[in-house]
Amino acid sequence: MAIEQTLSLIKPDGVSRGLIGEVIKRFEAAGLKIRALKMVRLTQEHARVFYEVHQERPFYDSLTQFMSSGPIVAMILEGEDAIEVNRRLMGATDYRQADPGTIRADFARDIEANIVHGSDSPETAATEINFFFNALELM
Ligand code: CMP
Repeated sequence: MAIEQTLSLIKPDGVSRGLIGEVIKRFEAAGLKIRALKMVRLTQEHARVFYEVHQERPFYDSLTQFMSSGPIVAMILEGEDAIEVNRRLMGATDYRQADPGTIRADFARDIEANIVHGSDSPETAATEINFFFNALELM
């Protein structure tokens, strides 16, 4: 067990559906600490850079359009095994396969508009945190 940081995003659908508080409540209830937080709106170009690893996937254009369609909330979550804890709270990418009680099982009804994003490894977390937060914001 190690103290880790991970990047969490509440996607445009989560923000527009009024789920910011619900998502944050679940993170805090699970013991994750919010170390930084802001609301931003990505351009599609920003979203293309953020999701670069998916550039060959058929859903890349649609995903980057969706991610730039409205404001999102970006957060740094910290805690023991924060990456895995966050992924468990989110549930599987496809809400139909997400465990009951997870954020995606409870709220997502679309594989793309799936409410939240979370880093999938320590390396990705470092890159994704640095994409959204500068040195001053990292405290
Ligand atoms: P996320 O965890 O942010 O990582 C990539 C995103 O691509 C994913 O959540 C979904 O929002 C989106 N996506 C759309 N279609 C698919 C798909 N078929 N498989 C995986 N991810 C998809």
